[in-house]
Amino acid sequence: MTINIILLGPPGAGKGTQARTLVEERGLVQLSTGDMLREARTSGTEMGRVVAEVMDKGQLVTDEIVIGLIREKLETVDAPGFIFDGFPRTLPQADALNDLLAGMGRQIDAVIEIQVDDTALVDRISGRFTCGNCGEVYHDQTKPTAKPGVCDLCGSTDLKRRADDNADSLKTRLLEYYKKTSPLIGYYYAKKQLHPVDGMAEMDEVGRQVAAVMDGIGGR
Ligand code: AP5
Repeated sequence: MTINIILLGPPGAGKGTQARTLVEERGLVQLSTGDMLREARTSGTEMGRVVAEVMDKGQLVTDEIVIGLIREKLETVDAPGFIFDGFPRTLPQADALNDLLAGMGRQIDAVIEIQVDDTALVDRISGRFTCGNCGEVYHDQTKPTAKPGVCDLCGSTDLKRRADDNADSLKTRLLEYYKKTSPLIGYYYAKKQLHPVDGMAEMDEVGRQVAAVMDGIGGR
């Protein structure tokens, strides 16, 4: 049995944080279009240059590019299930994902919507840093490293802050979310696939709520 889920929520809601736990505990593969695009922007290609410009402004990259990235992963990665993190973000992306999965005899089993107040998002984004080596996500206040400047998981000192984690681009990212991504909440609700969780709770509690959804759909 395969399990495919979507983590939906505004920038900084905790999608990446929860996805990493699901990867560790359930052996699913995380497909984050944000991570794929951050890799593409360092490629030195014309596409990478355009992607970097769009991301730094906080706008959405074109559907064509992100659907192409997801298609390539689905065609080349073999997994018992996928966590779609930050994808889909528009209705055309949602339709494309349905078609891609249907072509593989798969489907979306649950859409977990992480609900967080806008004011909390500002704090989460401004305090976030990640390990450039293993990708672990930290926060200055809520999840600092045990030893300053050193990743708890892999010991790397390559801790980074994202170029788009600033007040200006967050404003645009939120607008983009409400305008283009939030219609997906109604879309998946109508398809009876939506499972809201309280993203304002502490990380472990959010994890428990996500785990309950996964257990409910047989995702163990
Ligand atoms: P992307 O990388 O997907 O960014 P995002 O959606 O803005 O989400 P984030 O990664 O910022 O947040 P998150 O929800 O993963 O939160 P996290 O777990 O890190 O996209 C970046 C850009 O790429 C977009 O703006 C766009 O340009 C482009 N893009 C990507 N996908 C696209 C698509 N499909 N179509 C078009 N363009 C696309 O947590 C945040 C912080 O909060 C961390 O520090 C964490 O430690 C902390 N935290 C987490 N949970 C909690 C909690 N419960 N309590 C307290 N703190 C918490």
